[in-house]
Amino acid sequence: MSILVTGGAGYIGSATVDLLLERGEPVVVLDNFVEGHRDAIHGDADLYEGSIGDTGLVTSIVRKHEVQACIHFAAHTNVGVSVTDPGRFYANNVGEGLALMNALREAGVKHVVFSSTCATYGEPVRIPMDEDHPQNPHNPYGWTKFFMERILEDFDRAYGMRFVGLRYFNASGATRLRGEHHRPETHLIPLVLFTALAQRESISVFGSDYGTHDGSCVRDYIHIADLAEAHWKALAYLRADGKSDFFNVGTGRGYSVFEVIEAARKISGRPISVKVEDRRPGDASYLVADATKAKQVLGWEPEFDTIESIIESAWRWHEAHPEGYAR
Ligand SMILES: NC(=O)c1ccc[n+]([C@@H]2O[C@H](COP(=O)([O-])OP(=O)(O)OC[C@H]3O[C@@H](n4cnc5c(N)ncnc54)[C@H](O)[C@@H]3O)[C@@H](O)[C@H]2O)c1
Repeated sequence: MSILVTGGAGYIGSATVDLLLERGEPVVVLDNFVEGHRDAIHGDADLYEGSIGDTGLVTSIVRKHEVQACIHFAAHTNVGVSVTDPGRFYANNVGEGLALMNALREAGVKHVVFSSTCATYGEPVRIPMDEDHPQNPHNPYGWTKFFMERILEDFDRAYGMRFVGLRYFNASGATRLRGEHHRPETHLIPLVLFTALAQRESISVFGSDYGTHDGSCVRDYIHIADLAEAHWKALAYLRADGKSDFFNVGTGRGYSVFEVIEAARKISGRPISVKVEDRRPGDASYLVADATKAKQVLGWEPEFDTIESIIESAWRWHEAHPEGYAR
């Protein structure tokens, strides 16, 4: 009996694969390497290079490895590209995502853990945001995740395929072996640390006139080790007959862009110059999770609950891997 991990060569997927193997679960990774890195995949995982939309391949993997559950990370994630090239995003995240779901269903896989996002909520109408917060995504990326959530619900109702949809807030940090390396990188913490490493001249802060305590945007940063643990708990929940549901995965604490930069200065001991720029369209001012439900129902609790502990882990990884996974 194996767990199929789609997107297991990516940032969060690779850390989750490590944890699953550590807990004694046989793991099969399916990744087409549009992103992700071969060096990020644990040597004990079986690897298939291919797309989630290749139903023949998915079916044969499920049969050969007796796949019992799928953790579905694979997706395009660059929000800006989703605005300029939505066709690509819908085709990959929804079109191929649906093909994957059909192949899993036909092959008899009953449990799915899905990577969803706080981007499905859009601009907050109340803070912190719980799972009942209205969903009105701001961009095609968020909509692709929203549509996949509806597909999961319908597959549960019609076919009894149970799911856990984890709505991550801002994934961040590094484990000893796995860190963040997107191409191009768009996430704040690695960009700030690249500035500390003198790989960039400055870090841009988009907007310093938001209604937050220091004017910059506030986000809830959640460590990838805590995310990996949430997937493990979600699997256990489904195996124990838990009903299909969505859970926020965040710390419930928000940090502003300026606070992240200041923490990175302290931890790296390096200067980090800042360029304040205009607001970017579509950036919400304040996104912080109410993760009470994940704590109560899944028994999940984040260990990395300060920005310093998250940045420290990321700094260690980026210092050791200044070029990321590049060989
Ligand atoms: N990073 C975040 O802050 C964050 C926040 C919320 C949700 N998420 C979601 O978590 C998941 C993982 O994010 P990440 O940051 O690790 O991204 P990532 O880009 O590092 O990993 C995604 C992986 O999926 C693979 N992939 C993409 N399309 C594929 C396809 N059609 N077939 C096979 N493989 C494919 C890529 O090659 C890559 O290895 C994504 O679904 C993302 O939307 C991420």
